[in-house]
Amino acid sequence: MSAAPPVLEVEDLCVELDGRDGAAPRRLVDRVSFTVGPGEVLGVVGESGSGKSLTMLAIAGLLPPGVRASGRVRLAGRTLDGLDDAALAALRGREFGFVFQDPFASLNPVRRVGSLLVESVLRHRALDRTAARVRAIESLRAVGLPDPEQRVDHYPHQLSGGQRQRALIALALVNGPRLLIADEPTTALDPTVRLAILDLLVAGAGERGTVLVTHDFGVAERACTTIAVMYHGRLVEHGPASAVLAAPRHPYTRALLDAVPRFHGPPPAAIAGTPPSGPVPDGCAFRARCARADAACAATPEPVAHGAVRVACHHVGTSQMAAAGGQGA
Ligand SMILES: Nc1ncnc2c1ncn2[C@@H]1O[C@H](COP(=O)(O)OP(=O)(O)OP(=O)(O)O)[C@@H](O)[C@H]1O
Ligand code: SF4
Ligand SMILES: [Mg+2]
Repeated sequence: MSAAPPVLEVEDLCVELDGRDGAAPRRLVDRVSFTVGPGEVLGVVGESGSGKSLTMLAIAGLLPPGVRASGRVRLAGRTLDGLDDAALAALRGREFGFVFQDPFASLNPVRRVGSLLVESVLRHRALDRTAARVRAIESLRAVGLPDPEQRVDHYPHQLSGGQRQRALIALALVNGPRLLIADEPTTALDPTVRLAILDLLVAGAGERGTVLVTHDFGVAERACTTIAVMYHGRLVEHGPASAVLAAPRHPYTRALLDAVPRFHGPPPAAIAGTPPSGPVPDGCAFRARCARADAACAATPEPVAHGAVRVACHHVGTSQMAAAGGQGA
């Protein structure tokens, strides 16, 4: 989406669960490709179980045991796939920061908040402990944590949920990474704090690339410059936020947007059928829930460019979709 070289390039990323007792591996994420440019905020949306977190964990080299990634991942031109755990650990926290979906699981309850930041600075920067502590306090101040000189010595249970989330963001940003990946960073927060945290993630991004996983289209609309929609382990629509949100082309994106409650406008419509689970199926995974499905949809649709938006649907741009009132025609 950007003329400048990408911060992050992901190509044909697959995630598979090892088969038990000699069984074949089960694919959970299938050939996902996208880039993130400097200053870009990519929103990754999709129902629960669509593979958003696994995709992010695979990029960061943080998949749990028994789950493997394949494909290519480059950060500022440097290949990450194939790096061993030690090499990836050396880049995490310096070249890219990660804010996890669950802030309680991410902050050690018996470690003072500041000690985690100081440790990260000492690992990645040539600073002594005093300078690292100053940097930790500056980082807490930059994310709007009140009284950072005191908070730096607090334990996680002494902070509110919003303050814990700010501390996590400070930890991800303390070494000025090129890329920030934030997985549902605002889901557990009240709307006012959510907006403040979002603005924090986006403001001051500068040349940093940001990937923001979210269930919330309000968040996507406010913060994201591009949107990637995932369904059952595949990327089904990807393009500028203004285009995807104003004129969604994939039937799943439309259904997702129709399900969003709005103050003004029609009541939300739940998506028919059950959300995805299990291995990625052959063919279009959405076909059991899609009113447009026909025999062609038994084959897996590949992403195709429609202007600036890439869509994986056999019938976007066809007369069948036009007859059904689709905007992708
Ligand atoms: N460690 C694991 N072992 C087996 N299956 C897993 C594992 N982690 C995730 N899965 C499965 O992979 C699929 C994608 O999971 P993932 O956590 O990426 O979904 P998600 O889109 O992040 O969902 P949510 O919005 O609920 O966080 C789900 O069907 C999930 O059950
Ligand atoms: S490929 Fe077929 S089933 Fe899948 S979204 Fe498009 S029309 Fe629906
Ligand atoms: Mg998730």
